[in-house]
Amino acid sequence: MSDMRTPLVAGNWKMNLSAAEGAALVEQFLREVNLRPDREVLICPPYLAVPKLVDVCSRTMVKVGAQDVFWAEKGAFTGNVSAGMLTDAGVTYCLVGHSETRGRFGKLEVPESTVGYFAETDETCNLKIKALLPFGIAPVLCVGEAIGERKAGQTDEVIKSQLRGALDGIEGAELASLVVAYEPVWAIGTGEVCGADEAERVCGMIRGYLGELFDTDTAERVRVLYGGSVKPDNAKELFSQPNIDGGLVGGASLDAKGFASIVLSV
Ligand code: PGA
Repeated sequence: MSDMRTPLVAGNWKMNLSAAEGAALVEQFLREVNLRPDREVLICPPYLAVPKLVDVCSRTMVKVGAQDVFWAEKGAFTGNVSAGMLTDAGVTYCLVGHSETRGRFGKLEVPESTVGYFAETDETCNLKIKALLPFGIAPVLCVGEAIGERKAGQTDEVIKSQLRGALDGIEGAELASLVVAYEPVWAIGTGEVCGADEAERVCGMIRGYLGELFDTDTAERVRVLYGGSVKPDNAKELFSQPNIDGGLVGGASLDAKGFASIVLSV
């Protein structure tokens, strides 16, 4: 990580924890770690737990994010939540394009026939980012290659096209709050972490490509996180890389002590 950027550790709770369980987890986490202003901590609970967690975190330095958003302002979009509604609930960050909403699972936990239900594309990521920015909600854009793409030598190409698609038509100046999370699909929920050298190489490539798409200032400002089986025992090595500004943590963020130890590694 670089001194220029405030490190960020984000917990993606996915479809886990009730509001009460989440509140208890945060309270235990806060007993384990003394947060300082030079490091940011974010939790992304399921929508229904957001109001309770915003309330619990309001007196702390823990920020609350959402796991998804719909791009329209309002209307006949059953089951969806808008950026305005997230702001109203006190959300300041939002994941966009997580591999699980793209239907790209590290460990397939749904029947193959239902994968198409998780239909996120680069185009919907783009619409969602454009919907979030006017509300001042920081998008956490997730990118990453599947195992077949890695084996075929397509890692960089896949990620560049995800970045290009998701950020199309947006000016560098609008992207001050953008966070990009490099999440190799094969490392998500599998226990198989990407080596720190390779994670650094890809995060550096992402920053370089943001420099090409926008400008160096924008690229230097954007925080690039690594995600995929981050655990207390591998966090320090990953977070000490110059282009890795923290982590997006799934499974290990559901354990207060483990998450505290990961936060203390940044
Ligand atoms: P994991 O998930 O830490 O459980 O691998 C990371 C993520 O999906 O953001």
